[in-house]
Amino acid sequence: MESPGLEDRPVLVFDYGSQYVKLIARRVRERHAFARVVRHDLSAKRARELNPLAIILSGGPSSVYEEGAPQCDPGLFDLGVPVLGVCYGMQLACRALGGTVQSSPAREYGRADCHILDSKEPLFHEVPESTTVWMSHGDQVKEAGSEFIPLATTATCSVAAVKHRTRPIYGLQFHPEVAHTPYGTLILGNFLDRICGSPKSWTMSAFLERSIQDVRRQVGENDRVVCGLSGGVDSAVAAGVIAKAIGPRLVCVFVDNGLLRAGERDSVAEAFGKHSDAELRVVDASGRFLKELNGVSDPQEKRIRIGHTFVDVFRDEAKSIPNAKYLAQGTLYPDVIESGGDKDGPAATIKHHHNVGGLPAELGFELIEPLRDLFKDEVRRLGLELGLPDSIVWRHPFPGPGLAVRCLGPVSHDRLEILRQADAIFLDEIRRAGLERQIAQAFAVLLPVSSVGVMGDGRTYENAVALRAVETDDFMTADWSRIPHELLARASTRIINSVKGINRVVYDVTSKPPGTIEWE
Ligand code: XMP
Repeated sequence: MESPGLEDRPVLVFDYGSQYVKLIARRVRERHAFARVVRHDLSAKRARELNPLAIILSGGPSSVYEEGAPQCDPGLFDLGVPVLGVCYGMQLACRALGGTVQSSPAREYGRADCHILDSKEPLFHEVPESTTVWMSHGDQVKEAGSEFIPLATTATCSVAAVKHRTRPIYGLQFHPEVAHTPYGTLILGNFLDRICGSPKSWTMSAFLERSIQDVRRQVGENDRVVCGLSGGVDSAVAAGVIAKAIGPRLVCVFVDNGLLRAGERDSVAEAFGKHSDAELRVVDASGRFLKELNGVSDPQEKRIRIGHTFVDVFRDEAKSIPNAKYLAQGTLYPDVIESGGDKDGPAATIKHHHNVGGLPAELGFELIEPLRDLFKDEVRRLGLELGLPDSIVWRHPFPGPGLAVRCLGPVSHDRLEILRQADAIFLDEIRRAGLERQIAQAFAVLLPVSSVGVMGDGRTYENAVALRAVETDDFMTADWSRIPHELLARASTRIINSVKGINRVVYDVTSKPPGTIEWE
């Protein structure tokens, strides 16, 4: 990944293993500076080549004085580039420049009252002298050393923030990136604007302009780009950027696998047709997918079969597009970081599951990934910048294997239809209650059990459906949504009254962990 634009000098966020590394990067970007996560041992030489606006050293679970603990290249402190150490990062900076770090008398975790010692300090501009901060550490700086001036204290941490006497090097023992530090974003903003002189050039409109130029440069005049639309926001925004750059030389392929939600195929076709002059091909392959899934109950087997069928269908379609040389994908920055896809980034971590939309290299396309520098919230803002409708920009994520992994047990046309109707009613109630944005994902799951009920004067023995709604920022952890009981009551009544084959509705109150968001 090269820097997106000369004016966007990156803020390099060194990764020492904190769960908040990506959050730091997102917060920096919210202040309109381009943040990039890099490995903890990136050399000072390479850092200089990247021409950074600033360096942020993240927190991490290790102890700086332990054998084998991740260290930074001390040359980073000689680059003349402003440095901000957060938690472990502050301890690294202090230790490298003459301070001492030791285990805290008591592990400090949670809110703390922080007292700012110098109200004129630009880092704390407009921050109250007494403010709440979020701490999460086992070690702390004992002596800042002669090179640093302490800037803040808490009851248990005498050095809660520091500044170097002569160089632009700062440290915070607390976490400015988390919401529990109410002035944290302001402190990060002060660092960027007042200490680093950030030009605040990271905006989605500037990004869009540059991406359009990049796509035009990359794609030859007679070449065409193929983009698989999934119905989700990422592929739609990726297609939107490319369509703006090369118009009808983009061909979008939407595969109807028969596992879509109610109305999905039409809404994608309509939204896409209105908003771009690219070609859209809708391939109805539902029969082919359902045949492959016939009699399959195992969730992984379902995923594998759907994945293979998707590749086959896509390959057949792509063959019929003349001069198709490139494949567009809606890969996002967190995927790039996690898969180790950036040579200066951290090493790969285990991916949880693969996206069925990911197409194998043997299809022979060159990849275009216009979103690989963006976080999800930035993708939505870019979508708005492109003029895509809210229905696409704010769409909840939908798994590649679709309703197949929400139809527990064997998948059949009839069972899918029951599920589709129940799901549509639940989503409709959520939309009507105005809860669509608060809830990250909501859906119905058709259970492989029948239960006894009574309707009218008769006994019934029919399917049960579970409703699930979760709230989450990153989908790695999630909490079940406390949606109003009245909403559940309305959804339940409507489902039982109008969906033939369902006589019982339950609501899932499992968070993740220990549950997963999907049931399969
Ligand atoms: P879980 O169930 O693992 O889901 O908590 C986390 C997020 O990933 C989505 N998901 C998938 N997406 N292919 C996808 O493209 C899949 O096989 C798949 N499985 C789960 C899920 O909907 C949630 O947003």
